[in-house]
Amino acid sequence: MTELDAPGRVAAKIFPHPLNAWYAAAWDHEVTAKAPMARTVAGKPLALYRTRDGRPVALDDACWHRLAPLSMGTLVGGDGIQCPYHGLQYNSAGRCTLMPAQRTVNPSALVTSYPVVERYRYVWVWPGDPLLADASTIPDMHQMDSPEWAGDGLTIEAPCNYQLVLDNLMDLTHEEFVHGSSLGQAELSESEFTTRLEDDGSVTVTRWMHDVEPPPFWLKNMRDRFPGFSGRVDRWQVIHYHAPSTICIDVGVAEAGTGAPQGDRSRGVNGYVMNTITPETDTSSHYFWAFMRNYRLDSQLITTQLREGVRGVFAEDEAMLVAQQRAIDANPDKVFYSLSVDAGGMWVRRLLDRMLAAEGRAVAADETPDVTSEDTFGDTSVPS
Ligand code: FES
Ligand SMILES: [Fe+2]
Repeated sequence: MTELDAPGRVAAKIFPHPLNAWYAAAWDHEVTAKAPMARTVAGKPLALYRTRDGRPVALDDACWHRLAPLSMGTLVGGDGIQCPYHGLQYNSAGRCTLMPAQRTVNPSALVTSYPVVERYRYVWVWPGDPLLADASTIPDMHQMDSPEWAGDGLTIEAPCNYQLVLDNLMDLTHEEFVHGSSLGQAELSESEFTTRLEDDGSVTVTRWMHDVEPPPFWLKNMRDRFPGFSGRVDRWQVIHYHAPSTICIDVGVAEAGTGAPQGDRSRGVNGYVMNTITPETDTSSHYFWAFMRNYRLDSQLITTQLREGVRGVFAEDEAMLVAQQRAIDANPDKVFYSLSVDAGGMWVRRLLDRMLAAEGRAVAADETPDVTSEDTFGDTSVPS
């Protein structure tokens, strides 16, 4: 283990959210050309809608005139929206195009129009400096719409800070305690793991459990693919973190000893848990998740069963996160400490701090993770 993993280190409890980032604002099907919808992303209330030709739009949800919410308005023309209060109309760039009570339009009448990209079944919004919005930095979630993967997901409106969800996903040893009836097993805590900063700036946490009993969730999935399967498995969890708040987890099990750790997963089942967490406020988050699989792609039954199974598992997380946020609020003077299993969560803090520093919003020095060099973050251990 690295110095980073030393138990007992104090970590910043909660960081603010970066603004120069793409955040999933909605599922693609939520944003329509029929009516605008309201959603707060990174503290900014937005009105989301589609133009007649299907392009998603995100405008500030406050009219230039008296700040009435545009999300209560109606869509007009090919790409516009009309304020529900006194009828001002705006185009998709946020420029006012009509003031019903007067002939001329005040040229300063504008609302902010945010950069928007539709990708991987989500509508992504950039709440920060629009000149920095580069669509190539949207995190890779290609399993969401690849023909080689099938699955579905939902949104959790989580009344907690987004970073608590990141901590939850970066350390899966909690499965033993929070998801004891579906995913938990003692080997989660007992097995070694590696934490690695990749060349592209993402962080990978890898854990293998060799020759273990499959917990109920994985036994069911093995039997979906290999009817009647029984016996022991090699189980893996490879967590991929993309700052600020997307975590895609390569998970699965394969018949023990059939070569999965060496790359042959043909005797196993493989899923990807796709998570992207959008801060709403400092104490609430839109948590978009999906479970994708690469076997029995045409089975809607399995898609629905997996979605509902994971929904139940994540409800257990949500209950813990809500209770944790409540305890944080009740103990403003208390700090977080870190265990060896928090290596991934510490990296999240380091990368968030870098993003915030680039925005001139770095967290106070005594709150940042106490790390000294890049070298500190190589492999922390090597799985066999
Ligand atoms: S508040 Fe929107 S037109 Fe008056
Ligand atoms: Fe969990």
